[in-house]
Amino acid sequence: MKSFCKLLKKQTKKVIGLMSGTSADGVDVALVEIRGHGLSTQIELITFDTFPFDAEIRTRIFNLFHPETSRVDEICEMNFLIGELFAQASLTLVERAQLCTDDIDLIGSHGQTIYHLPPQEGMLHIPSTLQIGEPAVIAHRTGIPTIADFRVADVAAGGQGAPIVPYVDFLLFRRADETIALQNIGGISNVTLIPAGANARDVIASDTGPGNMIIDALVEIVTDGTQRYDPSGQFAAQGKICESLLTEWLRHPFLAIKPPKTTGREVFGAQFARQALKQGEAAGVSPFDVIATITEFTAQTIFDYYDRFLLPNHCIHTIYISGGGVHNMTLMQRLKSLFHPIPLRSIDSDGMPSDAKEAVAFAILANEAVHANPTNLPQVTGASLPKVLGKFVPA
Ligand SMILES: Nc1ncnc2c1ncn2[C@@H]1O[C@H](COP(=O)(O)OP(=O)(O)O)[C@@H](O)[C@H]1O
Ligand SMILES: [Mg+2]
Repeated sequence: MKSFCKLLKKQTKKVIGLMSGTSADGVDVALVEIRGHGLSTQIELITFDTFPFDAEIRTRIFNLFHPETSRVDEICEMNFLIGELFAQASLTLVERAQLCTDDIDLIGSHGQTIYHLPPQEGMLHIPSTLQIGEPAVIAHRTGIPTIADFRVADVAAGGQGAPIVPYVDFLLFRRADETIALQNIGGISNVTLIPAGANARDVIASDTGPGNMIIDALVEIVTDGTQRYDPSGQFAAQGKICESLLTEWLRHPFLAIKPPKTTGREVFGAQFARQALKQGEAAGVSPFDVIATITEFTAQTIFDYYDRFLLPNHCIHTIYISGGGVHNMTLMQRLKSLFHPIPLRSIDSDGMPSDAKEAVAFAILANEAVHANPTNLPQVTGASLPKVLGKFVPA
């Protein structure tokens, strides 16, 4: 049996990272060769793919997001089913890489977040978070030791449990003489700012607001569910921006909240999209105009965060974009002009495929857990102390 202790002595490990984000579009799987750990970490991405969830699974996942449609028997079953899908995706990727599971040392799985109740001022709830995709199923099916449930230790220590990728951003992308920002545009958008010559304590990170989430929800309504997202931003490009709606949405209170802050589906999800369509109808503009205006809103919320909270104190050399948002050309074009003259590049230009970055991060977080390195950044999550993140399941 492969043991975690044996992994401590291995200089180079083959590790799989598994991720499904707030968009619940599919399982991202990255197979990475990792050399060293901590500040000495070096990686080579062997292969990556996304395995989209079929429509039925996606509907079942979305039902789990809402207390009104979520049932305890369904959560129980979906935990195992998603574990199974994550395992199958891993096995397929290993086969495609012409390797066998014995060649793989470790899996790091984020799972699928279905509910997130971070600490908040005046809260009535117990801070908590729930990612499903049972790691015991992943470890059993693949025969590979698995580390999962990375967020809970941070929440237990008083943190938001998010974001947890900034530590990995720091390991992989820090520069001695350039301040850079890494902007991930998934369902929600978040930024990691790494000042020139920073150590981990200097890293700043926060959600900036919506990513693709409102756009996706609008497109699903407008196309009667035949499309899940705006392909390359074509729909937005066909519409006209409605200035009055844009101005109104830009008054959203989330934008003024001081960072670090997190947001989600409850604020910038389907509800927002339905309301936007109603407002569009009242203003006499077409659904495509609403998509164009929401796309502009999304771009402006990202810029607004930098404008308020980062640019007054930091001279940013380059902004690197990752996540599914890079495929929305209309969004990317608008971001480029808003940020001009700061160059905006896809993270691909730095050798990391933009869709693979988050899955790679969970491979690295698993490797760090094996070496007992803390991977939350307390200044980012608000946790009371650095924590080793992840729970271990032997194969
Ligand atoms: N070809 C494309 N054109 C436009 N948008 C795309 C395209 N491919 C993916 N996306 C967007 O990327 C999203 C998925 O991005 P991802 O980074 O996986 O987000 P998450 O981490 O929330 O799952 C999709 O829901 C969609 O909005
Ligand atoms: Mg995704």
